[in-house]
Amino acid sequence: MVKKNTCVFISGKGTNLKKLILNSRSYVFPINIKLIISNNDKAEGLNFAKKYSIPYYVINKKTRFSERLLLNELKNKKISLILLAGYMKILSKRFIKNFGKTILNIHPSLLPKFKGLNTFARVLKAKEKKTGCTVHHVSEKLDNGKIILRKSFYINNNDDQVSLKKKTQLLEYTAFSEALIKVLK
Ligand code: GRF
Repeated sequence: MVKKNTCVFISGKGTNLKKLILNSRSYVFPINIKLIISNNDKAEGLNFAKKYSIPYYVINKKTRFSERLLLNELKNKKISLILLAGYMKILSKRFIKNFGKTILNIHPSLLPKFKGLNTFARVLKAKEKKTGCTVHHVSEKLDNGKIILRKSFYINNNDDQVSLKKKTQLLEYTAFSEALIKVLK
C-alpha cells in the first residue's frame, strides 16, 4: 500500500492526533504522519510529536513561521493530505487554494448543525435528541465542505457539556480513521 504523506494540525490536547499516530503505524492504514503543526506552543498534543519523533512546527506571531513557509515545507516533505484535528484557527483561503490538495477536518457536531465554536452548550440549549461528530472536506467556507461521515449518539437527560464532549470525542477517535479509509480507498 502506498501511504499518503500527511500533516496533522492541532491546537490543544491532541487526543485525536494520538489515535491517528497509533493507527498509522499499521501497514494497512493509508497515511504516514510526516509533520505536525500547532498554532499554540503550549499545546499538550506536541508531546506526541516528541514522543513519536515526528517533526513539528509552531505557527504563530512569536515564531514567525508563516503559512507561506509552511507551503514550502509541505512541498519539500511531499505532503498530499492535511488533517485538522482540533485546530482552532481558520486557514486562509489563499493557503487552502495554494495547497490545492485534500484537507479534512473533524467537527464536534452533526453538521450542518452547530457550525463554529461552543457546540455542546448550543446542542443542549437547542434540546437536541442526538449529537455527534462529522468528518468533512475543508473548503474556503467554515465547516462547510463535503461531508464524509457522521457518527451520532442519543442525548440523556443527565448529559451536560462535559459528558457530551467525552461521548463525542470517543466517537471522533474512530470517525477520523474511518473517514480516511473511505476517502483514500
Ligand atoms: C475535538 O473535539 C474536535 O472535534 C474539535 O477539537 C477537539 C480536539 O481534541 N475540533 P483533541 O485535541 O484531539 O484532544
